[in-house]
Amino acid sequence: MSAAPDAPGFRALMGRWATGVAVVTVRDGETDHGLTVNAFLSVSLSPPSVLVSLKDDVDSLPPLERSRAFAVNVLAADQRAVSERFARTVPAAEKFRELPFHRGVTGAALVDGTLGALECRVAAIVPQFDHRLVVGEVVHAETGRDGPPLLFFRSGYGAAEGVDRIRLPPPRAASPSR
Ligand SMILES: Cc1cc2nc3c(=O)[nH]c(=O)nc-3n(C[C@H](O)[C@H](O)[C@H](O)COP(=O)(O)O)c2cc1C
Repeated sequence: MSAAPDAPGFRALMGRWATGVAVVTVRDGETDHGLTVNAFLSVSLSPPSVLVSLKDDVDSLPPLERSRAFAVNVLAADQRAVSERFARTVPAAEKFRELPFHRGVTGAALVDGTLGALECRVAAIVPQFDHRLVVGEVVHAETGRDGPPLLFFRSGYGAAEGVDRIRLPPPRAASPSR
């Protein structure tokens, strides 16, 4: 493929980019909302910030815009059912029915059994094409279980078999004048 891809071609190529899977949760007044995402990345270390890309018609977007806060729950390899639950187009209450979770400092639902969760205040929402790029400043982080992540790859789920240490050149020695 060398020309601009059609939608299936683009999807297939992007499917070669392996990602983790997360559930974004939002507390809007007394109501919980949430959806599965894999378009998630860190933006900066200082301040700690992240970005999630949400389709402009997802039900969770208006509550997120109202509450100006959200949490990102990083799923473990054995939480495929949680990913599937939050990817369904069902009323929000159904997604949380009998789901074990606890409340974070922002009030957002933090799913039990994840690898960790980040709670964010919305710093910016940038409309782009048919998505909203939601930038969040991390106000609280919770480390969860230590274990393999759920992976999304070639339109399917996978698991990391193990990791090898990254090999980089040694950091440059600091100059004595600094
Ligand atoms: C593995 C996976 C990754 C997804 N990633 C995203 C994403 O990054 N952004 C997005 O808007 N939807 C994503 N979706 C689709 C939403 O989870 C799905 O549309 C969901 O039903 C939206 O819920 P809501 O309308 O209740 O908010 C993904 C689905 C799956 C299964």
